[in-house]
Amino acid sequence: MYFKKLSMNVLSSVQSFYHTLVLYLSAFVTLMTPGTVIWKIFGNRKGKVHLMSRDLICDSETLTKLPKCSKPLDQFTNALCPFLPTFLLDSDNSWKQRRNVFSFGNDLIIERIGQTSPDFRLASKPGNILWDVFEMISRYSFQLVFNRPPTNEEFNRIYPGLLDINRIIKRFTSTPDVKIRQNFYDEVLKLIQDNDKDFLFHNCEAFFQMEEIHQVSSVAEDFLTTISVQCTDLVCHMLLVYSEHADDFQNQFDNALNETLRLYPLTDLWVRQPYGGQRGWITSLVQLNRNGWAQPDAFSCERWNLPKHPPLMSWGFDIRRCPAQKLATNVSKLVFQTIVNQEGFWIEPAANFQHERTFPYGCQAWIGYGEKPKNARRWKFENKLRMQLRRWLCEKLRMIDQNELN
Ligand SMILES: *[C@@H]1O[C@H](CO)[C@@H](O)[C@H](O)[C@H]1NC(C)=O
Ligand SMILES: *[C@@H]1O[C@H](CO)[C@@H](O)[C@H](O)[C@H]1NC(C)=O
Repeated sequence: MYFKKLSMNVLSSVQSFYHTLVLYLSAFVTLMTPGTVIWKIFGNRKGKVHLMSRDLICDSETLTKLPKCSKPLDQFTNALCPFLPTFLLDSDNSWKQRRNVFSFGNDLIIERIGQTSPDFRLASKPGNILWDVFEMISRYSFQLVFNRPPTNEEFNRIYPGLLDINRIIKRFTSTPDVKIRQNFYDEVLKLIQDNDKDFLFHNCEAFFQMEEIHQVSSVAEDFLTTISVQCTDLVCHMLLVYSEHADDFQNQFDNALNETLRLYPLTDLWVRQPYGGQRGWITSLVQLNRNGWAQPDAFSCERWNLPKHPPLMSWGFDIRRCPAQKLATNVSKLVFQTIVNQEGFWIEPAANFQHERTFPYGCQAWIGYGEKPKNARRWKFENKLRMQLRRWLCEKLRMIDQNELN
């Protein structure tokens, strides 16, 4: 009996050592994000896989059955300094204040979206459209918060900060540019202090009761950054999928949107530190969103019409569910539809471009209007190898710097 137990323990330690080793080695040598690596290695597994110091949660059912915990999901991330993002705050008073203020702003912004009809139009060109979309949505996020477009001076002090944040998130660089972030901070603070009658929180007492850092973070992080970064990713994913499945976006938009998010979730990993006798855990959104679906790697809108199907986990779960889901889908839908409904719009991704969850080479696509040139299907973007190497390096630095996998 004793020996049986002992040998079971040894066996399970050897297994967790083996799983940990395979996961780390693959995450380190390949160009895939850790979340994608996890899907490749552990595929359709159910339940938990024991790693050395934490568990890997393989499916949504196991995840939602874990004891409730209100601790932040993610750990430290340098991408957003000097701001304090709500999702990193412990469930204390400032978190509650920020969530309340967020709900206030969120409702008003959703109203404002209905009142605007911006003219989103991408310039004709073959190349990386990621930053074109990003700049457009950054301007729009300012307009939603202040109810007017930014002046050039305002935009020039804010946009480089947003760009720097997104470049770190995208692993195009690994350290923040502190001076640019400071300009961003100062400009937002100034706008808050002006408290123009059209400012989102003009009449919101709870907003002005928060400390300065929370006021600035609420505007700069929870709204400007979230809207511009998340919606840009979602819009670019939709545009790439649209290049092959335009009909689905015309005939069953909501299904196409969910199917895009299922294949390309905007987040890679969720991690949680040990709590209440539980081991810490890690989970890959790519895996959660594909587990339990037939032909999980294929794009198929019809699957959303089936009466019973696994949930889409892209927007989170329990009390840490993303409160911006409605706002983000609303903005993304508006931007996306305005772009593709422009007269004669067409898009052709580069022949050497692979659509991945992150955008390691940006979003390389030829945008045009009217007749498509004959060579459109053959165009290729340059410097792919260099971009991959840079991304590999920044990604590994970030894995180490932020303890992503340990
Ligand atoms: C898409 O996913 C969201 C979030 O899980 C869900 O609320 C919505 O009903 C889904 N839409 C369709 C068309 O199934
Ligand atoms: C966004 O929400 C507003 C208000 O609920 C609604 O009128 C509008 O149609 C929505 N827009 C899109 C593109 O979903």
